[in-house]
Amino acid sequence: MKNRELAVEIKNVKKSFKNLHAVKGVNLQIYKGEFLALLGPNGAGKTTLVEMIEGIQTPDSGEIFITGKKWKGNELELHHSLGISLQETRFIDRLTARETLLLFASFYRLDGRRVDEVLGMINLYEKRNAFVNHLSGGQRQRLALGISLLNSPEILLLDEPTTGLDPISRRELWEILLYLKKYHGTSLILTTHYMEEAEYLCDRIVIMNQGEVLAMGTLEELLRNNNLEEYIEFSLKNEITNFDFLPKNIFRNFKFDAKQRKGNCYISNAVQDLPVFFEIMKQQHIELTFVQCRKLTLDDLFLVLTGKKLEEN
Ligand SMILES: Nc1ncnc2c1ncn2[C@@H]1O[C@H](COP(=O)(O)OP(=O)(O)OP(=O)(O)O)[C@@H](O)[C@H]1O
Ligand SMILES: [Mg+2]
Repeated sequence: MKNRELAVEIKNVKKSFKNLHAVKGVNLQIYKGEFLALLGPNGAGKTTLVEMIEGIQTPDSGEIFITGKKWKGNELELHHSLGISLQETRFIDRLTARETLLLFASFYRLDGRRVDEVLGMINLYEKRNAFVNHLSGGQRQRLALGISLLNSPEILLLDEPTTGLDPISRRELWEILLYLKKYHGTSLILTTHYMEEAEYLCDRIVIMNQGEVLAMGTLEELLRNNNLEEYIEFSLKNEITNFDFLPKNIFRNFKFDAKQRKGNCYISNAVQDLPVFFEIMKQQHIELTFVQCRKLTLDDLFLVLTGKKLEEN
């Protein structure tokens, strides 16, 4: 991966709104053909960061290079290499889906042929003559994606493109994006609150919180680097409130609800750590009534890093 060409390079970028530090010195590299997910709770700074890449907002300090070039002096060229879809898209109600695309196509001096091609890609050809306010939410999101695809961009920046979509519409949008990756080598920076989306679509995941990057890597790397691989849940017969006898370096983030007699914690290796768990419980004369161990997900990692659940945002 390291030898690949960079699509976007972000160097120590900062942005504040008065005394609110929305982005606090972010460094990030996105390679050509790579899909990157930007995750973080509300207000983490995702949109601010993405809009600085898009040239919509200017960093207070730091540098952004898109295919090796800065925005200043390269505006026209960069507008042609980027495809952008903002967190909220407002359409003109009195235009049809096709007319909306034609309007945006005219900015790039593209004609109706490209518009029809894009209508096909986003599966909206049947609906091309429908007014945009008669489209469903999912169809409108696909139209927004269509606008960002008109200029056949090398780099796509999509801010929560699937928020509010039903699982089927979300999946349809994913398939369009994977098609672009496979056949056009498109790079993607996507912000999302859906861990499944980040896991399914993206090569690497970046977790942001309060303007900072907390972690970045493939899902496996993220879990391994945090020594979080498995999750144990258990229930007990006994009434216990103190678990000091469990080594905290093995059984991490230990939680126990005394009322329900249910607990959970993270371990890094089930084969090694589970027998230790059973042995200690036996020594302490604690009777387990239920034990379950499962692989960790991005959602667990997110909770450990940010203290919040990903999809609660
Ligand atoms: N134009 C602005 N003026 C003042 N504060 C702003 C402005 N834009 C963003 N902020 C603040 O900067 C912080 C980061 O906002 P941002 O929109 O980047 O978050 P986000 O990660 O995209 O959140 P969400 O998941 O809700 O979309 C927030 O605290 C927000 O209130
Ligand atoms: Mg946002």
